[in-house]
Amino acid sequence: MPLHPLDSDRWLLTTDHTAYLLGLNADGRLVHGYWGPRLPYDDDYPALPTYSHYPFNSDAADEYAFTGAGHLVPEEYPTYEGVKYTEPCLKTAFADGVRDTVLHFQRAAPDGERLTIYLAEAVYPLRVTLHYRAHSAHDLIERWATLENTGDTPITLERVWSAMWHVPAGPRYRLSHLHGRWKNEFQRAQETLHPGIKRLESRRLTTSSSHSPWFALDEGQATETGGAVWFGLLAWSGNWALSAEVTEFYRTQLGIGLNDWDFAWRLDPGETLTTPASLAGYTAAGFGGAARALHGYIREHLPHPEHPRKVLYNSWEVTGFDVNEANQRALADQAAALGVECFVMDDGWFHGRHSDRAGLGDWWPDAGKFPHGLAPLIEHVNGLGMDFGLWIEPEMVNPDSDLYRAHPDWAIHFPTRERTTSRHQLILNLARQDVQDYLIDLLDKLLSAHPIAFIKWDMNRNASQPGWPDTEREPRELWARYVLGVYRVWGTLRERHPGVIWQGCSGGGGRTDAGILRHADQIWISDNTAAPGRLAIQAGYSQMFPACTMEAWVTDMGHEPLSLDFRFHVSMCGVLGLGGDIRAWDEAERDAARAHITTYKQIRPLVQFGEQYWLAKGDYFWAVQYQHGGQGVVFAFLTHRIDPVEPLRARLQGLDPTARYTLEGFDGARSGAAWMSGAVQLPLGEPQGKTNFSSLLLRLTQV
Ligand code: GLA
Repeated sequence: MPLHPLDSDRWLLTTDHTAYLLGLNADGRLVHGYWGPRLPYDDDYPALPTYSHYPFNSDAADEYAFTGAGHLVPEEYPTYEGVKYTEPCLKTAFADGVRDTVLHFQRAAPDGERLTIYLAEAVYPLRVTLHYRAHSAHDLIERWATLENTGDTPITLERVWSAMWHVPAGPRYRLSHLHGRWKNEFQRAQETLHPGIKRLESRRLTTSSSHSPWFALDEGQATETGGAVWFGLLAWSGNWALSAEVTEFYRTQLGIGLNDWDFAWRLDPGETLTTPASLAGYTAAGFGGAARALHGYIREHLPHPEHPRKVLYNSWEVTGFDVNEANQRALADQAAALGVECFVMDDGWFHGRHSDRAGLGDWWPDAGKFPHGLAPLIEHVNGLGMDFGLWIEPEMVNPDSDLYRAHPDWAIHFPTRERTTSRHQLILNLARQDVQDYLIDLLDKLLSAHPIAFIKWDMNRNASQPGWPDTEREPRELWARYVLGVYRVWGTLRERHPGVIWQGCSGGGGRTDAGILRHADQIWISDNTAAPGRLAIQAGYSQMFPACTMEAWVTDMGHEPLSLDFRFHVSMCGVLGLGGDIRAWDEAERDAARAHITTYKQIRPLVQFGEQYWLAKGDYFWAVQYQHGGQGVVFAFLTHRIDPVEPLRARLQGLDPTARYTLEGFDGARSGAAWMSGAVQLPLGEPQGKTNFSSLLLRLTQV
């Protein structure tokens, strides 16, 4: 039973292994009660906290006690009101200037795995509805809120977050988060939280490669394989904020939602705003357990959850902007001979696009490069047995383009400021419905005219001068309305062209989040395709999202002194692709590539649909296992040796303890229990006779 009332005003959301308790405390406040392992009996769950008197925050005896109490107890959806200084989820301004929001409980509607809590402002016509959904099999709780103006004057929302997550009071928590930059995304950082606020955010219009809207809290001891971890994310592809706060009473709470920086949303009479969802969970299985819980959920909610992802070739690193029919045909011929299944032509194919200075906006084939349009190339690619894919960057415009000359007002800008370009481009204002409609129509025609099976949707700059001139809306709604516009354009195209596989990209992984993964099947996670750098980038990415969404190409970037084996093995940990100059690879390299691609096709169900277990995640030694039922595969990497005699050991995970398995290169079958308890010494570097940048792929088979 995912949800049941413990008594008249306490509700327990349960998943297979976890439980989450909330309810009305003795003061009538909606407070958090418990989040952790599911307990055997209802009586095991604690009573709900009420406030205790503390000078400056409450007066126990008088009528103001209620308004002060919110500072002292873990509220499910705190507002800015009364004597309260901790972070709220909601801050509003009513038409008369009052900026104090008092929400009263109206009713709760438990329904299967969902719980809906209705709240209403004490005086003003604002309804707030809190939504909870338990995802039992994934041990996740999903939360979001809707706000409705039921009156006849506008209400300004100055902050509207999706959730406040509370971890058990007491210990000092450690926050893990992912940060980075272009070509070095998803680097994990860990820090102990002290009283105060640690805030992470994006102000860039996209999710950003600087920080990801993901968090994990633990008591400082959790490892990859064990320990209590509370973790979560925000499913949103624009400006977001996350605030991890330790109050002066050592209560730790984490708020997450739309960024309130430079934000305001005017909720007009009769209007409703729904926040993005935040998804969070508790696990006792460490950071690996946290990752697998998210992977399971994300995999299920992808546009094409069941499709095995194809091995693709992408032209970008080889032909750059100089694509033309002849060089793409030549690459396609080589790619097909290696076993590639989808050929993707990247940037450079459209009108006037000879460098990054011109063309964006004019999405028809460049007549000089493709005198007969795209059809002959697509036919050629299809004739070789491959799907055809195409790169677009629809949200952008170069000032040097027909589109910009026709509609300069469509770009995001402040009329009195110079329009700052980045990569020589401006951003179309997708908050505007006319711009959305234009793009839907244009891209629909492109997809209808050709058998295009794959689209790489790029977004290569961050916002500046975030103006939306002449709008009747509150102009600061731009940040959120832009993202809703992207979702509308993409969602409409997906509906009209359900067979297309979509790849999300933003200069690499700059727009990577659970919101875009409702539209994109896979993500281009980094423009850094040099295999050693990718190990940490891929490991960080894999903390949030499953391998079937992680595109990884074998290229020529920084390949000295890397073997083709090492480069392939790194890319085979995700959705394998190629992006190197395969025309220049010699016969031995091509044979090796062909063999790796054949192997990948055999193991792809394990990598793309199996469970992921990191066996070693280190500065120089990495190992990851993908397990799908009785079949598994282990990849191991040694970048360099620090200690020449140190054995490189790993303990397998995720096996049935009593079943028996063989591991390639090791004699005899052993029980799952044996493989999981005794570390095996991996023969890294031995076959090649060199230790640096060596790798292994070992298959694991149940007998
Ligand atoms: C971005 C992408 C690259 C490539 C270029 C094309 O940088 O991340 O993969 O598509 O744009 O301009």
